[in-house]
Amino acid sequence: MNSTNFHIPNLTIIGVGLIGGSLALALKAAGVVGEVVGAGPGGVDLEKALALGIVDRITDDLAASVRQADLVFLATPVLALASVAAVIMPHLKPGAILTDGGSVKGEVVTAIEPLLRPDVEFVPGHPIAGTEKSGAEAAFATLYQNRRCILTPTARTGADALEQVRRMWQAAGCEVVAMEVAKHDRILAAISHLPHMVAYSLVNAVGSDDRYEENILAYSAGGFRDFTRIASSDPTMWRDIALTNREALLEMMERFEKFFAELKEDVRTGDGQAMFEFFLRSKQSRDAIL
Ligand SMILES: NC(=O)c1ccc[n+]([C@@H]2O[C@H](COP(=O)([O-])OP(=O)(O)OC[C@H]3O[C@@H](n4cnc5c(N)ncnc54)[C@H](O)[C@@H]3O)[C@@H](O)[C@H]2O)c1
Repeated sequence: MNSTNFHIPNLTIIGVGLIGGSLALALKAAGVVGEVVGAGPGGVDLEKALALGIVDRITDDLAASVRQADLVFLATPVLALASVAAVIMPHLKPGAILTDGGSVKGEVVTAIEPLLRPDVEFVPGHPIAGTEKSGAEAAFATLYQNRRCILTPTARTGADALEQVRRMWQAAGCEVVAMEVAKHDRILAAISHLPHMVAYSLVNAVGSDDRYEENILAYSAGGFRDFTRIASSDPTMWRDIALTNREALLEMMERFEKFFAELKEDVRTGDGQAMFEFFLRSKQSRDAIL
């Protein structure tokens, strides 16, 4: 890679699902990547990634997958990131850049940084893009167009490596912002992790209502569908996020409980004026942001 004409001669993606696969497709479309190697546990998903032209070569041998790589992108579920980093660390080229797309940054940085060789760079990252689908088949080249990617460099992160990863995400279509690790985890707990917990709970609450013979979810349209789309997201991914961003997520869940309890009390007491004000405040906040 050089700093004038951005190009990654050899890219390895470990975990070729929605996030890893879409990055490969976006970089290929932008013409900024040479050979793309896809690695992971093997099986149907990895073979699909090859068949769909997302990657040029596949292997289930993580060590072998990174030997030639200038840049390695880790896109496995969050709890697998550090164990994958540990396996590949002795096999990375001197000067290689390691980066990731995990949805939580604090625990990932804490687990990976102590594993780093002095001649390997690590740039923690998180593209704020996704769908409720997963796997290589769900990947598409425009996923990152006009979306944000947050990089959370630490004192260990080299300026040149940070710049290369920034340029990679820009080539994929993202606006790149840098942010402190803890701030990232607090913001994501509020705007992504809490909504997923609420959506999962809502579907379970309504779906377990067995007073009627038919499945009442079959009547769902509009609001229920829109609101709960994210409850179709991959359970492994969300288990890992909830386990690794516990502190910030619990704080937001408690905050949510307080507001929900306030609304519940207004419903219980039939306080229409309080409800109106509650809904109005919410509508004004959302309309102002969006
Ligand atoms: N889906 C989203 O909306 C979204 C958005 C931003 C970031 N992320 C993050 O990106 C990462 C990947 O998410 P995704 O949606 O692409 O998931 P995905 O399920 O589509 O893909 C994950 C891939 O990782 C592979 N994998 C699983 N365990 C592995 C292991 N131990 N070693 C090697 N490979 C392994 C799977 O085979 C699969 O190919 C997660 O860390 C997630 O938190 C997801």
